[in-house]
Amino acid sequence: MQVKDKIVIVTGAGSGIGAATAKHFASFGAKVVVSDFNIEKAQEVADEITGSGGTAIMLKADVTNYDEVVQLIEKTVAQFGRLDVMVNNAGRGPKIMAKTAEYSLEDWDKVIAVNQTGVFYGMKQALLQMQKQESGSIVNVASLAGLKASANNLSYCASKFAVVGMTKSAALEYASKNVRVNAVCPGYTESALLDRLLSARPGMDDILKKLIPMKRYGKTEEIAEAIVWLASDSTKFITGQTLTLDGGISL
Ligand code: NAI
Repeated sequence: MQVKDKIVIVTGAGSGIGAATAKHFASFGAKVVVSDFNIEKAQEVADEITGSGGTAIMLKADVTNYDEVVQLIEKTVAQFGRLDVMVNNAGRGPKIMAKTAEYSLEDWDKVIAVNQTGVFYGMKQALLQMQKQESGSIVNVASLAGLKASANNLSYCASKFAVVGMTKSAALEYASKNVRVNAVCPGYTESALLDRLLSARPGMDDILKKLIPMKRYGKTEEIAEAIVWLASDSTKFITGQTLTLDGGISL
């Protein structure tokens, strides 16, 4: 994978898909900024990378806080001189899954703030730097819920459809500037987020696995592999695309 020496930020890199992505980039020789609002977990991931001979630093950023996202990009550029890849991965689901009429205002606001506004902030600041450099690649982590209906999960679904739309719009705007913007759309993937979904209702594991043609959940490493590939120089002519990794569920 052609990402050696690239300067990469991964948000939400303290756990799950983000942690796997940070480690995967580092294993190919990229220099990784492991970012999360959970600094203990992000530091553990950065330490694991440096402990196995890779290059990583930890920088705290709550993606819902614009100033912290500005600082994240500024500190990265101060440390490494540029920003080649931005992975907008930080995300969350609602506290309580419910039909639209019963959906809480708090869950609406909190999910949109992280999954939609957080991705906007990340793209905005990364693009300011990348247009100066006249190069860069952004990968947003959307979801299967950004491509099809998702019952009892309105803000999550809305935010992920938004990520797909923002990905395509920004890709169009920056295609002539040598900056690419793509997204991955994972289906159910083993992580803390999936654990919370599975504990929402008894029997959820069986219900979900019946829906998935491959009869298993995705692994974080499988999503990481696709993110690194989309960010890499192996995909220089691909922009504005969504790559679905879902064990066939969308079929
Ligand atoms: P996870 O819960 O394991 O990891 C999410 C990470 O984001 C955590 O480290 C958390 O601390 C961080 N985070 C949350 N809010 C943040 C904020 N405001 N600022 C900075 N960091 C924040 O979940 P997972 O599954 O690894 O999720 C990663 C992305 O993948 C999310 O965008 C999620 O929506 C998406 N996704 C996950 C799927 C799954 O089945 N696990 C399926 C489709 C998409």
